[in-house]
Amino acid sequence: MTRQALVTQAYQTYFGAAPQMVCHAPGRVNLIGEHTDYNGGFVFPAAINFGTDIAASARDDRQVNVRALDFDNQLVSFSLDDIQFDNTHSWSNYIRGVLIALMKDYPQIKGADFVVSGNVPQGAGLSSSASFEIAVLKCFASLNELPLDGIQAALKGQQAENEFVGCSCGIMDQLISAMGKKDQAMLLDCRSLEIKYSELPAGFNLFIVNSNVKRGLVDSEYNLRRQQCEEAAEVMGLESLRDTDLIKLEADKDKMSEKAYLRARHVITENERTLKMCEALNNGETATVSELMRASHMSMKNDFEITTSQIDYLVEVIHQELGAFGGVRMTGGGFGGCVVALVPDHLISQVQNAIEAKYQAETGLKESIFICTAEQGAFA
Ligand code: GLA
Repeated sequence: MTRQALVTQAYQTYFGAAPQMVCHAPGRVNLIGEHTDYNGGFVFPAAINFGTDIAASARDDRQVNVRALDFDNQLVSFSLDDIQFDNTHSWSNYIRGVLIALMKDYPQIKGADFVVSGNVPQGAGLSSSASFEIAVLKCFASLNELPLDGIQAALKGQQAENEFVGCSCGIMDQLISAMGKKDQAMLLDCRSLEIKYSELPAGFNLFIVNSNVKRGLVDSEYNLRRQQCEEAAEVMGLESLRDTDLIKLEADKDKMSEKAYLRARHVITENERTLKMCEALNNGETATVSELMRASHMSMKNDFEITTSQIDYLVEVIHQELGAFGGVRMTGGGFGGCVVALVPDHLISQVQNAIEAKYQAETGLKESIFICTAEQGAFA
């Protein structure tokens, strides 16, 4: 059964009627451009064929009743007029947060009954929470016929994270979940929010491997990285690290902490790599793509310090098989989660075999491999 059919059937069971609508929002994988979004820089993600599905109907009052199939079918109910943080059902805070953000512009929305379920692996760096937020926004926008576009929805999702959930994330995850396109990656300028799509090259696969490293301290480390970037920008008298280059950074090196310097060096070089990667992919220059993804990984490892030994190992195993015929790097916020590789058709089984033979033996962790496709965003 498809997930859409699953939520539709569950809606019928729990609410005793057919749902008015069903909607879907995808998770994402980032090809390159890590921790650049909140520095006003460039990112290059794709939406993937994992996501969140919702079956819903509007109510005549301001009540919201939600069943979460992935959390033991838990029921959460609240009024739009009294939204509080929920420590017991923490998954529901994504819904609460986006509804508060949405009601800043649309205070009169109606309540809803809905069922939600998703298949984005949680805590794996594939944006299960952004896909959840965007699915909820799509659902309320449709039920209330709101003129909400994908960029506005992404900003609402980010606001929910920043102001309600407590994560200082950037705009990338919500924006790609809203605006992704089938078979395309999306180059996003996170300052102007200008979007350019790039066809993913034929014959290459979006090969994603979950390291299954348990992520710890993610939010605090993430927020710390963001502060260190802000420190570097402030010392350099800049609004964001987008506005500088390595020459200026070297000139100001002594004015900032060693960590701030390293973080800034990652952001500056990563922005350059992201633009080059988009160009190289468009021109079919696989060897350049390979080098850029490798350099990105090394920069995340040495300068931004967000990889783990298991992830570094996984990247090495894949890199050894791919050579210059594909690319591999960690993807997402870091401290665990997934690696992304662009793998040509003819190397798929070779790469897969190498991982299966080596990763668990070295790290004690069993990987999960997903060969994904790029999909349409919820508002695209
Ligand atoms: C998380 C955040 C994004 C982005 C990435 C790192 O996924 O939600 O905004 O900062 O980390 O690139």
